[in-house]
Amino acid sequence: MVGSAIVRTLQQQGYDNIVVRTHAELDLTSQAVVQQFFADEKPNQVYLAAAKVGGIHANNTYPAEFIYDNLMIQANVIDAAFQNGVQQLLFLGSSCIYPKLADQPMREDALLTGTLEPTNEPYAIAKIAGIKLCESYNRQYGTSHGVDYRSVMPTNLYGPGDNYHPENSHVIPALIRRFHEAKQNNSPSVAIWGSGTPKREFLYVDDMAAACVHVMNLPKVIYDQHTEPMLGHINVGCGSDVTIKELAQIIAKTIGYQSEITFDPSKPDGVPRKLMDSTRLNNLGWQAQVGLEDGLARAYEDFLRSH
Ligand SMILES: NC(=O)c1ccc[n+]([C@@H]2O[C@H](COP(=O)([O-])OP(=O)(O)OC[C@H]3O[C@@H](n4cnc5c(N)ncnc54)[C@H](OP(=O)(O)O)[C@@H]3O)[C@@H](O)[C@H]2O)c1
Repeated sequence: MVGSAIVRTLQQQGYDNIVVRTHAELDLTSQAVVQQFFADEKPNQVYLAAAKVGGIHANNTYPAEFIYDNLMIQANVIDAAFQNGVQQLLFLGSSCIYPKLADQPMREDALLTGTLEPTNEPYAIAKIAGIKLCESYNRQYGTSHGVDYRSVMPTNLYGPGDNYHPENSHVIPALIRRFHEAKQNNSPSVAIWGSGTPKREFLYVDDMAAACVHVMNLPKVIYDQHTEPMLGHINVGCGSDVTIKELAQIIAKTIGYQSEITFDPSKPDGVPRKLMDSTRLNNLGWQAQVGLEDGLARAYEDFLRSH
């Protein structure tokens, strides 16, 4: 999802020499093929959007794959980039790097101040290692080799190219699918796990892509002024959140599902609120552009095209 959105954004901005690979073409967990890829292509800039990703169910079921694949992908790509003279790289992390009980909204300096959410701890530990890889290469090779590796931590993303798998998807694609099917089947009600009261932040993926290109191309002196050598990552969010109930109502309206929506408070809610503090990014001159209703309408159009 994000990689494709970054490609769309770069193309819109006139870049005409973008090199991409699918998972089938290049397994980033294999050090040898990654080294060969970089030796052949010698890119100037690298956006590392590939990762093993998924919701709670997938994280709980495949914890070994979530930590191993992500550690390997990052270590292979970041080191091969360095070995082949790449000076600019952007690593994509996630908001789950922050402690489960971090103060809200979550600032960058909440990193490593507390215990992580256990369900996605292996994934989060890998993402934290990715941030520290970037910072460490900068600290060791920044002056000698001009290495400038940056990282961005997006909030929950949605939009074209999302994963609509019935079990392994995030909340927005899961609800789009369920309301769409309920409308088609004239179901009298849709039941949603949890109380509906937790608040979450959602960012349209093209906004995320625009933020990535913005951060990649900031002059080094500006990036350095707004970050620290051992606290180099930047949050990417829209700055506002909605309850799951509000989200469900907007999705139902977008899809034209008019029957009942029920909530099951006996099922787990997760933390009451999860919102990024994106002040650092805002101070670097970037703001989200696409509102939730507009973004969800575009996401549903994409769902209809692909289903
Ligand atoms: N989506 C969100 O809400 C969200 C939120 C926060 C952070 N992020 C971060 O944003 C980045 C992109 O996420 P996304 O939502 O765009 O996920 P995505 O749509 O699943 O894209 C990830 C891509 O990485 C590929 N990949 C996985 N393992 C690979 C491997 N070993 N070698 C090569 N390619 C591999 C996947 O290919 P296959 O599908 O074929 O395996 C897929 O094309 C990730 O770093 C993720 O952690 C996403």
